[in-house]
Amino acid sequence: MGQFCFLTAGESHGKGLVAIIEGMVAGLPISEDYIARDLKRRQAGYGRSTRMKIEQDKAEIISGVRHGLSIGSPISLLIWNKVWEEWREIMNVIPASKKVEAITTPRPGHADLAGITKYAVDDIRLILERASARETAARVAVGAVARRFLDEFGISINSHTVSIGKHRVKRIESIDWKRVETSPLRCADTSAEKLMMAAIDEAKARGDTLGGIFEVVASGVPVGLGSHVQYDRRLDGQIAQTLMSIPAVKGVEMGLGFGIADVNGSEAQDVILAASRGTQLPWRRATNNAGGVEGGMSNGEPIIARAAVKPIATLGKPLSSIDLSTGEKAVAHYERSDICVVPAAGIIGEAMLAIVLTNAILEKFGGDNLKETMANYKNYINSAYSHNRNAASKRK
Ligand SMILES: Cc1cc2nc3c(=O)[nH]c(=O)nc-3n(C[C@H](O)[C@H](O)[C@H](O)COP(=O)(O)O)c2cc1C
Repeated sequence: MGQFCFLTAGESHGKGLVAIIEGMVAGLPISEDYIARDLKRRQAGYGRSTRMKIEQDKAEIISGVRHGLSIGSPISLLIWNKVWEEWREIMNVIPASKKVEAITTPRPGHADLAGITKYAVDDIRLILERASARETAARVAVGAVARRFLDEFGISINSHTVSIGKHRVKRIESIDWKRVETSPLRCADTSAEKLMMAAIDEAKARGDTLGGIFEVVASGVPVGLGSHVQYDRRLDGQIAQTLMSIPAVKGVEMGLGFGIADVNGSEAQDVILAASRGTQLPWRRATNNAGGVEGGMSNGEPIIARAAVKPIATLGKPLSSIDLSTGEKAVAHYERSDICVVPAAGIIGEAMLAIVLTNAILEKFGGDNLKETMANYKNYINSAYSHNRNAASKRK
C-alpha cells in the first residue's frame, strides 16, 4: 500500500458502492458536488447501456471531511445503486424467500469461468456482480478526491478517445479539451467521431461490441515523482499497473509506446535543448516520446499514456459456451450491457492516473496538512529547480 491508498466494496446490483481512502492530508477543500462532476463524466458516452440513465451517480461523503475540508482521517464515500429495489430479491443480504435462478453459462472473455471455478460457487452471478465495471464508479469518486488534491499543485488530467474499432483520430498537435468534454465519444476529431458513432450503431445492430484506445494526459507534473532506485517505485510501472487494472484494458503504452520499437535510437530520445531565458527550468525537450517519464521519474513533460480497451464480452448475439449445470453446449449469458466503453474507460484512466500522482506527490513531499505538503513542494521547486538554473547560468 502506498502513502495514499483506497479500497472499494460493493456489487453491481447490490445496495451500493463504498470507497475508503487512506492518507489524504488535512486541509483539502472537497465537496460532494466536485466528486459528482467526474461521476457524471464516467456515465456519459455513446454506446453505454440504459443503466447509465437510471443511475445518475452521486457519492455521499460519510467521513473524513468537516465543514468542507478534509481532516486527515479516512475519507469514506458511499454511492447508492438506484437499481437495488428491483434487484433486492436476487441480491438480498438475507436468504431469498423464493428460488433465484442461477446463471450457469459463462461468457467467453468475462470473469465468469475462472471466477466460478476459483471460488467454488455454482451461480455466475456471485462472480459477475463484482467483476462488473460498476465498481469503477467508486474508483472515479476516489480519483476525484485525488484530482482535487492535484488541482492545488496546478496538475490537470484529461483523457480523449484515440480510436474505436478501426476508426482512429487524425494526429492532433494540440487537443481542444473543451471540444472533448462536449463530444459524445470524448473525441477531438469531428470526422473520426462520426465514423465511430456509425460503427457503434452497426455493432449494436449485429449484436456485437467494439473496443478502442483512450489516451490520458497529465500536465503540470513536477520533475522527480517516482524513482529509479527500486522496481516498484518507478512511476511508469505504477501508471501501467493501475491503467491495466481497469476492466477490459488489455494494453498500456506511454509516449511513443510500442512505436518506439520501430525507430532508431537517435530518433527515439527526446533531445535536450536550452530553454529561453526566464523559464523555471534551464532546459526544454524537443519531443515527448518518453511520455513524461524517464528512469521511472517524471521529467517535467506532460505524462501521456494510452490504453487499449477490448470489445466487451457480453454480446447481444452471445457466443458459444457450455451450461456448467449440464455440461451441454449452450449460448453465453446475456444481460443489459454496454456496446462500447472506451470514453468511460478514459475517465476511469484519469482517476487511476490522479491516484498514482497523488500518491507520488505525498511520498515525495510528505506532510499531514496541505499547507505542510505545499511548503515542502515549494521548497523543492525553489531549491532543486534553482540549483539547475544556477548551474546553467554559471556555464554561460
Ligand atoms: C466503463 C466500463 C463498462 C463496462 N461495461 C461492461 C458491460 O456492460 N458488459 C460487459 O460484459 N463488460 C463490461 N465491461 C468490461 C468488463 O468489466 C470486463 O471485461 C470483465 O470484468 C473481465 O475483465 P477483463 O476484460 O479485464 O479480463 C466494462 C468495462 C468498463 C471499463
